[in-house]
Amino acid sequence: MSKQNDDFFKSVIAHAKEYGLVFPSSEIYDGLSAVYDYGQLGVELKNNLKQYWWKSMVQLHENIVGIDSAIFMHPTIWKASGHVDGFNDPMIDNKDSKKRYRADQLIEDQISRYEADGKTEEAQQLQADMDEALNADDLPRLKAIIEEHNIVCPQSGTKNWTDVRQFNLMFSTKMGASAEDADTVYLRPETAQGIFVNFLNVQKSGRMKVPFGIAQIGKAFRNEVIARQFIMRMREFEQMELQFFVRPGTELEWYEKWKETRLKWHISLNGDSKKYRFHDHVKLAHYANAAVDIEYDFPFGFKEVEGIHSRTDFDLAQHQKFSGKKLQYFDPEINQNYVPYVVETSVGLDRLFLTILCNAFEEQDLSTEDKKDSRSVLHFHPAIAPVKAAVLPLTKKDGLPEKAREILNSLRIDYNIQYDEKDSIGKRYRRQDAIGTPFCITVDYQTLEDDTVTVRHRDSMEQERLPIAGLERMMAEKAGWKSLLNDLI
Ligand code: GAP
Repeated sequence: MSKQNDDFFKSVIAHAKEYGLVFPSSEIYDGLSAVYDYGQLGVELKNNLKQYWWKSMVQLHENIVGIDSAIFMHPTIWKASGHVDGFNDPMIDNKDSKKRYRADQLIEDQISRYEADGKTEEAQQLQADMDEALNADDLPRLKAIIEEHNIVCPQSGTKNWTDVRQFNLMFSTKMGASAEDADTVYLRPETAQGIFVNFLNVQKSGRMKVPFGIAQIGKAFRNEVIARQFIMRMREFEQMELQFFVRPGTELEWYEKWKETRLKWHISLNGDSKKYRFHDHVKLAHYANAAVDIEYDFPFGFKEVEGIHSRTDFDLAQHQKFSGKKLQYFDPEINQNYVPYVVETSVGLDRLFLTILCNAFEEQDLSTEDKKDSRSVLHFHPAIAPVKAAVLPLTKKDGLPEKAREILNSLRIDYNIQYDEKDSIGKRYRRQDAIGTPFCITVDYQTLEDDTVTVRHRDSMEQERLPIAGLERMMAEKAGWKSLLNDLI
């Protein structure tokens, strides 16, 4: 990461903490690694992102419904899905620092160093060697690559490495009344399996016809060994997943459709299509016959924000085998029973949050010849902004606060609105800019005479005079869900 991008990313993290978006977990106890809490504004932004996803995936599709399955599930589910045996990362320890690393990430860091030094050929060759070793699950080869490229431990600076070993990422705990008969259960590492095991329940109770989808938003847990880059890689995080059940043989067509749909969705939020790209998987997961990541250009480079996988009938077939229950669909159009194929879209809510934050944050220099000035601003799309508008009486007296509270009450049922009467109006505008509030509604003496207010726009900082009676309409047009969703229909 360049110094400029590093500084920018540090400012984003500091800003998120200062303004109540994201806090390190358990901070007064020195924190808990790779676990974060969302603050008073963070939770609003996160809820808005969930709503936007739910509305666009469930509400706008006649053939998609949602569920909310439990985090704990029968332990055999994770055997059937392949997670008990195969959900591993290749780990390597440095014997001097006693630090543990993901072998592939050590190599990726070396690739970035080659790229930064303009050694493009070396970077490409190393990437190809690593992909080949990962594809073949060749752990000794991974270690050899690390040694051949003189990759040292960032902490100790030495090459005193252990062998590369597989490390399972699932958290386990015990469920049961006494230690003797307690069962090992897992904290789910993905929400997808909760959907697969409910496939028939939903299909039958909802009389769903293939093709149809089941969507879910929920927590997932992974014992990530290398947790870094703020909320990018966490041990407890949230996923928004869709499993779309299709007739076998049509899955790649649907896969292409979902790729386009999901990319469009991301661009609708962040505006800038140049910040996104597809990255085809070289090493396909055990369940997939096609897979792609939607990557976002973070300050630390292009990285995955969403995965789209054509999962074949792997999961349903495995659950059929392990449970002994038929998980089939009778297709009346072709008069046949089959196990449907599945196309999955899976976006990490926390990573999505980070794309929004990085994309929105700006430190603007507003200095003129006479005066130094600057502001921190979050350019969120109004529909997802944590606070949609602030109502600001110019002074604390002469009936202005009462008038301002009337406006607040007329808008607060539909939108999250703040009321602020402290400090100068300029300082109040800056506070709202810093949390990304798109509109500041100022009540002044003229308001008492003609029922108009000044509306100040966050991005342009322009002001316009509007009748109070027109505020609801303006808010609906600019900050209502339609302002985002209309483009997706
Ligand atoms: N059901 C498929 C699945 O879980 P994945 O690529 O492992 O696929 C999907 O995860 C998405 O979940 C990723 O694109 C990422 O946004 C998010 N994600 C995965 N691990 C994460 C972690 N440790 N912290 C934050 N988000 C994570």
